[in-house]
Amino acid sequence: MLTVITNIKELVQVETGQPKLRAMGKEMARVETVKDAYLMVEDGKIKAFGPMDEWKAASGERRVDREVDATGRLVFPTFCDSHTHLVYANSREHEFVDKIRGLSYEEIAKRGGGILNSAKATAAASEDELYDMAQRRLQEAMRMGTGAIEIKSGYGLTTESELKLLRVIRRLKENSPMTIKSNFLGAHGIPMEYRGHQEDYVDLVIDEMIPLVAAEGLADYIDVFCDQGFFTVEDTARILEAGIKYGMRPKIHANEMAVSGGVQVGVKYNAISVDHLEQMGDAEIECLKGSETMPTVLPGCAFFLNLPLSPARKMVDAGLPVAMASDYNPGTSPSYNMQLILSMACIRYRLTPEEALNATTLNTAYAMGVSRELGTIAVGKKANFYITKPIPSYEYMPYAYGENKVERVFLNGVEV
Ligand code: NIG
Ligand code: FE
Repeated sequence: MLTVITNIKELVQVETGQPKLRAMGKEMARVETVKDAYLMVEDGKIKAFGPMDEWKAASGERRVDREVDATGRLVFPTFCDSHTHLVYANSREHEFVDKIRGLSYEEIAKRGGGILNSAKATAAASEDELYDMAQRRLQEAMRMGTGAIEIKSGYGLTTESELKLLRVIRRLKENSPMTIKSNFLGAHGIPMEYRGHQEDYVDLVIDEMIPLVAAEGLADYIDVFCDQGFFTVEDTARILEAGIKYGMRPKIHANEMAVSGGVQVGVKYNAISVDHLEQMGDAEIECLKGSETMPTVLPGCAFFLNLPLSPARKMVDAGLPVAMASDYNPGTSPSYNMQLILSMACIRYRLTPEEALNATTLNTAYAMGVSRELGTIAVGKKANFYITKPIPSYEYMPYAYGENKVERVFLNGVEV
């Protein structure tokens, strides 16, 4: 099956030559494009692209199964959303109102709300119900331009419920055209009955949950909420070591509430990413230099909770790569809209449109281990891209925040 998209006003984020696995520091400002372009797709992969003139010159010799005319429209690689909690049972708008009235996220968590509220509803829901809800959310995210997504467990907090969530993620992987990675986040919250002796819950995660998760091959990554009021650096180190033994690479929550040591423990265990980073000192930035760990900022969470902003600009200026993901979840970021994340990257974090694009595509692809196959338009990569509505330029994408600029989405070369 040969598909060609023709008359593309501008094909954005193309790579020629050896594709990069991530963009760091100054490289983040580089985005290559082809104006008046074509894009050819065969068997789910990108086969060729270039100026329309080239296509016209050769088109007599080529038999094409499908031609899509993109006059007036731009084409981008789909977003990679490297941090979500997409499988959950209930929304939490009542806590949202409590927060407006003055309660903090930590206060709500302490009294048994927050993650424990979600865990209660998740325990009561069947695997099929959770699957149907998650599938609908996945469809919506796709329509907004997301083509790859990482999904965490973490609203289980019992062995049975955590396995249930991970099995839902496995079914999503099997049945969705999206590229999906799963992350085991058993250490997301401390159940009420373990308050005051949370090391016993850590034991449960290590001795019971991890071996069962591994036996069914349910997790690509292992996560811990390493932060003040949640899991300590010592808890985190123990859990990561246990996960690594079973082949799960760390990818953790760090430094959302406090300078928690989360960045250091993540880098020590070669985490593929450390995420949140609202609380960052110079030592944290230094520690990330020269590592293979992707600093990942979650603008939706900081917006929703009114948290201090992660120093993304400073990190890029220090030569680091930065990724930005949605953190889609019912408690701190109830939106999977990566177009909005792109806008926030520019408006709130002062990244340029080019840096913001790299942060939400190539660098998030790296942060979920798929940057060889996704994240840019390059020959041989998966044909995951979207065609915009008629828009004037690529800078319009972050500029016109809140508007859906995506018209058609193709995953593995097929329109969804
Ligand atoms: O990434 N910070 C920890 N976990 C989630 C929030 C979970 C919740 O409140 O339901 C996050 O923001
Ligand atoms: Fe999260």
